[in-house]
Amino acid sequence: MKKRIAIFASGSGSNAQKIMEHFKKHNEAEVAIVLTNNPDAYVLQRADNFEIPTHVFDRYEFYKTNSVVNLLKSLEIDIIVLAGFLWLVPENLLKAFPNKIINIHPALLPKYGGKGMYGDNVHKAVLANGEEESGITIHFVNEHFDEGEIIHQSRFKIEKGDDLEMIKFKGQQLEHTHFPKVVESLLKKMKSF
Ligand code: GRF
Repeated sequence: MKKRIAIFASGSGSNAQKIMEHFKKHNEAEVAIVLTNNPDAYVLQRADNFEIPTHVFDRYEFYKTNSVVNLLKSLEIDIIVLAGFLWLVPENLLKAFPNKIINIHPALLPKYGGKGMYGDNVHKAVLANGEEESGITIHFVNEHFDEGEIIHQSRFKIEKGDDLEMIKFKGQQLEHTHFPKVVESLLKKMKSF
């Protein structure tokens, strides 16, 4: 049986798109479901385009019930990929999928992480501090924002004159290149892939 991936995303889902593309015709793994807290998230449209099932949940369902865990278990999910998912992962989900939940962050953690450090806030802080480089971090998820063990980092140089848009673009290019490959290599390390 193919390994099964669940993607969580809150917004556009361009990373989710790259992962869905990567595994569309893959022999050993597939995206089984896309989940979101945001009924208006464009990622839902993207999932539809790939004919991948979706699930929208609210705060009550996610934090006060076991229904998301039960859903993921019933789908026999092997890895959970957070791709622009903005809510903290609750303990019941962390316990149900130990070392199987990963996140991507648009900076070189441990710098520029933590609550409130998402989207443009990250890049603005990097620019304001005059950093000479930035990058991306893929890491395991624990009960704190952006703090789990680091799996992968890639970096790019910030050139004189690079503005917010340019830094976002450079980071996004790295994310789209590396995230699907990191998911694949983690799945390969799991038994029976
Ligand atoms: C990415 O920059 C990712 O690092 C962060 O959220 C953003 C999601 O972008 N966690 P997209 O929705 O995949 O385009």
